Amino acid sequence: MTRLRTPLAAVALLSATLMVTGTQAASAAPEKPSLRQLAGRADLLVGTAVDMSALADDTAYRKTTAKDFSSVTAENVMKWEAVEPERGVYDWSKADDLIRFARDNGQAVRGHTLLWHSQLPQWLTSGVADGSIDSDELRGILKNHITTQVKHFKGKIYQWDVVNEVFNEDGTLRESIWLQKLGPSYIADAFRWAHAADPKAKLFVNDYNVEGINAKSTAYYELAKQLRAEGVPVQGFGIQGHLGIQYGFPGDVAANLKRFDDLGMETAFTEVDVRMILPADDTKLARQADDYRRLLDACLATAGCKSFTVWGHTDKYSWIPGVFSGEGAANLLDENYAPKPAYVAVREELASGR
Ligand code: XIL
Repeated sequence: MTRLRTPLAAVALLSATLMVTGTQAASAAPEKPSLRQLAGRADLLVGTAVDMSALADDTAYRKTTAKDFSSVTAENVMKWEAVEPERGVYDWSKADDLIRFARDNGQAVRGHTLLWHSQLPQWLTSGVADGSIDSDELRGILKNHITTQVKHFKGKIYQWDVVNEVFNEDGTLRESIWLQKLGPSYIADAFRWAHAADPKAKLFVNDYNVEGINAKSTAYYELAKQLRAEGVPVQGFGIQGHLGIQYGFPGDVAANLKRFDDLGMETAFTEVDVRMILPADDTKLARQADDYRRLLDACLATAGCKSFTVWGHTDKYSWIPGVFSGEGAANLLDENYAPKPAYVAVREELASGR
């Protein structure tokens, strides 16, 4: 009896063990480290822009946002039209939701953006256009906006894009309502107001087509040098990083970052995506992976480059197809959240460290 029972018990035990270990093996299969874990080892925050509707409605999106990223940026909900839709009527609800999500998931928050020529509230643009808001009043409105917004998030935002896209490609200042009505001093004013409202936040300029050394990035370099010499609190240079594989990879990216580093400034990639003419194929995806890798490589080679943010991480919610007709597939994960070669490239590059 004993002899018979023992083997049976042993078989039962063995199969139970197999089942348990089998299950464990599936769920605890040595999972590859997340992007944020690898970035942390390289003293880097890896970020994503967040679409707040997707975050509210899509569990898979919430999961990937929390798992892979240590920094988040509001794709839209901190822009002026979102936070002050009517004059004097503020709506922080969606932005506060993002702050809460970030806190729950141990993520830092990048602030985007305080001053831009786009996505301004209608009451403001039409008031300027019809002359009911004059220059003096506009300056007061801008000061109030920056002060109110930065104070609202005081202590919760580590980097602010204070001014966004203020230069043209040739390095002249963009003809926005800010330049037209307030003159070029609006830039220094914006930084001073933001700094007064939260002295600890790092304050950035931010733009596209400034990855490499060119007229536009040089205009930022000269501006930053001049402002800093005057004691204006500008501490960071944000490179959006919206690339397209059809344009070729920009030259001198690392050298560009280095010259800002040499000024004692922080640098960051703030909105990286790499679009292509659809449909995607293996060659294009490989090229895309390479572009992501090379941007990240330049950041890792620069001591003051402390964050690398992608402008959305899944093709499911990308802004690209809506703006660049016929283009897309710009993100790290495809529409079904499957990792693309670009995801693997970013993971490998992060793993290789600084
Ligand atoms: C884009 C958003 O992704 C879109 O959803 C929105 O409709 C328009 O703005 N440069 C920036 C970002 O600084 O704020 C822009 O975001 C993309 C280009």
